[in-house]
Amino acid sequence: MHTGEHYHVFIQTSRRDRRVRSQFQSMVLSRLAKGADILDFGAGTGIDAKTYAANGHATFVYEPSEAMRDYLTQHCREEIARNTVVEIGWPLACKVHAVTANFAVLNHIDDHVTLFKDLSRVVRKDGFVLASMLNPFYLGDARYGWWRKNLVNLLRHGRYAIPSESRIHRFTPRVVAHAAAPYFRLERVTPRGMGLATNLYIFLLFRRT
Ligand SMILES: C[S@@+](CC[C@H](N)C(=O)[O-])C[C@H]1O[C@@H](n2cnc3c(N)ncnc32)[C@H](O)[C@@H]1O
Repeated sequence: MHTGEHYHVFIQTSRRDRRVRSQFQSMVLSRLAKGADILDFGAGTGIDAKTYAANGHATFVYEPSEAMRDYLTQHCREEIARNTVVEIGWPLACKVHAVTANFAVLNHIDDHVTLFKDLSRVVRKDGFVLASMLNPFYLGDARYGWWRKNLVNLLRHGRYAIPSESRIHRFTPRVVAHAAAPYFRLERVTPRGMGLATNLYIFLLFRRT
């Protein structure tokens, strides 16, 4: 099976991932004015883009992986034909009300200072960025050696990267908020409290100042 299709089927078959996706999409849609446009940054196979377009929000999609893009083009072919999903080869090629980055896109990126500087040029004033990131406090990961080994790094630096895992980074919300601070204010972190220990994903909502 093609990599993009494999990802698509895998994530759509997982009940937990579908529940998390539905929560994420609800947070996005409840905050958008009628007809407001979106950039889905790291759009994958276009699962969210298709939903946003169906809800009347023109959606730009930026996706660096060719395999993911190929499947997105199939999955969203009607929306692409109608121009309600628009593929872009560079994230700065649009100006929108909201940027979404669902399922760990920002965990692939080391330099959040440059990222949020770039996103500040894309998001209109009072618009938002909603990112779903791997939760560094998730206790379900405590069974792994890499989690225990990096606990000190997390507490000391608020971040670490695991070389064996394609350099997937883990960040505390505080560290991401600091990187975003010149242009964005961290408005909400979900979940909070005990929920932080039991959820693999954490949603960070940033408001453009
Ligand atoms: C787990 S997938 C999530 C895909 C999609 N957002 C979803 O909800 O299914 C992570 C995505 O991040 C993309 N990605 C990796 N590095 C990126 C970067 N520097 N900029 C934007 N996207 C990136 C990958 O190509 C991949 O599609």
